[in-house]
Amino acid sequence: VKTDLDRVADLLRRETGVSLKPEQMQSLAVALDRVQPGLDASGFLAARVEPARRAALMSALIDEVTVRETFFLRQREELEAVEWAALLDGAKAAGRDRVSVWVAACASGEEAYSLALLACEAFASGEPPVSILATDISGAALASARVGHYGRRSLRPLHDTARTRFFRHEGERLSVGEELRTVVTFAHHNLARDPIPPLGAGPFDVIACRNVLIYFDGDAIERVLSSLERALAPRGILILGAADRLCGSARRLAKLEHDHAPMRRPALRAPQHVAAAQANAARARVAQAVPTVEASRAADLHDVLRAADAGDLELAIGATARILRENPLDCDAQFIRGLAELGRGEAHAAVKSFRRVLYIDPAFGLAAFKLGRAYEACGERTSAYSAYERALRSPRAGDGRHALVLDHIGLGDVAAACAIRLRALSVKSRDPAGAGRAR
Ligand SMILES: C[S@@+](CC[C@H](N)C(=O)[O-])C[C@H]1O[C@@H](n2cnc3c(N)ncnc32)[C@H](O)[C@@H]1O
Repeated sequence: VKTDLDRVADLLRRETGVSLKPEQMQSLAVALDRVQPGLDASGFLAARVEPARRAALMSALIDEVTVRETFFLRQREELEAVEWAALLDGAKAAGRDRVSVWVAACASGEEAYSLALLACEAFASGEPPVSILATDISGAALASARVGHYGRRSLRPLHDTARTRFFRHEGERLSVGEELRTVVTFAHHNLARDPIPPLGAGPFDVIACRNVLIYFDGDAIERVLSSLERALAPRGILILGAADRLCGSARRLAKLEHDHAPMRRPALRAPQHVAAAQANAARARVAQAVPTVEASRAADLHDVLRAADAGDLELAIGATARILRENPLDCDAQFIRGLAELGRGEAHAAVKSFRRVLYIDPAFGLAAFKLGRAYEACGERTSAYSAYERALRSPRAGDGRHALVLDHIGLGDVAAACAIRLRALSVKSRDPAGAGRAR
């Protein structure tokens, strides 16, 4: 039976996409009391029928329950990997004079100002040709982003030169200077309810949507993710947060590496009989070792593998769809789906799937290689070229998980295959008539 507190949680989920776990219900009761001392769930529901109070109460509750933890240069590798000059070239080719960035769920502004700072550093002099739209659902977060005063903890990752150049002292704190402020515009936007991209905005060369999807349920993640993908410029990049990706991995099987063995088979060159034996062994291990909470995903993954084994790619795609409905950030299911689509000759769908794999796990080199293959199948050579280059740059050294995924294929094989494709593409672009030659 639903309690009034459950109903408030339902309203909150519909309004924001944020799905509270059972253990968070007590904090919701406390948050209501902070919105207005003495207010409980029934009081909140009753007050909501008064139109004047409805919006104010909901927005105050959102301010109370949203997690707004953030700091400058958080998960900096992915921000620092943005290639501003290349993005500007792409923007100009599309008839725009600046790089367009959207920081969705920007909290108190540090992420947006960090990107502004990196852009200023990348375009050494003058105002950078970059516009950053930074949005959040929380009015309180946006108010503090606009003020732009930050304490030591938030600024710690910045080096001294950056502090001196981009900030000025404001008592104990540092205040964001004009150089960064002119690049960033803050606005209210609700990822769960408002149009994506925000009205009148986009397409974007970069969208950062980090550490927010983790609070959403599967349906909301899928809706938001698909819309964000559509809001990107053709070669734009979507940056998800490490925590968002973890909500995929958290649902993985404890021994997911066993599942990966059969994934190698449709890839570069695992001999058929070895792959089949590995697939059988992997299935046997999965059958023994699946924790109950993951039982349904394991059963679905099992179906995917069985279907792929039998060459029934349609069935395989159907089974990945079941996993992805539950968790659109399941990297492995997304990857297998891409392979099956590529196998069925659905190159455009495969591009979409492999691109998504790379948003979820940017260091997944084999997915970048497969993305290159899919682009080639679509006839998009420039994009294929970039994908192979990306595959050569990843995975990052010391990323043990990729060793498991790649296993017998080996990073050397992927690198060699990339080099061959890159050579083939360069030959084609120099000598289009010889297109069939360099295979
Ligand atoms: C943990 S912060 C992430 C801040 C920043 N992106 C980062 O990674 O450091 C999460 C932010 O998501 C915002 N948020 C939650 N639900 C949202 C929604 N439906 N639409 C837009 N923002 C939302 C919260 O208000 C909060 O500021």
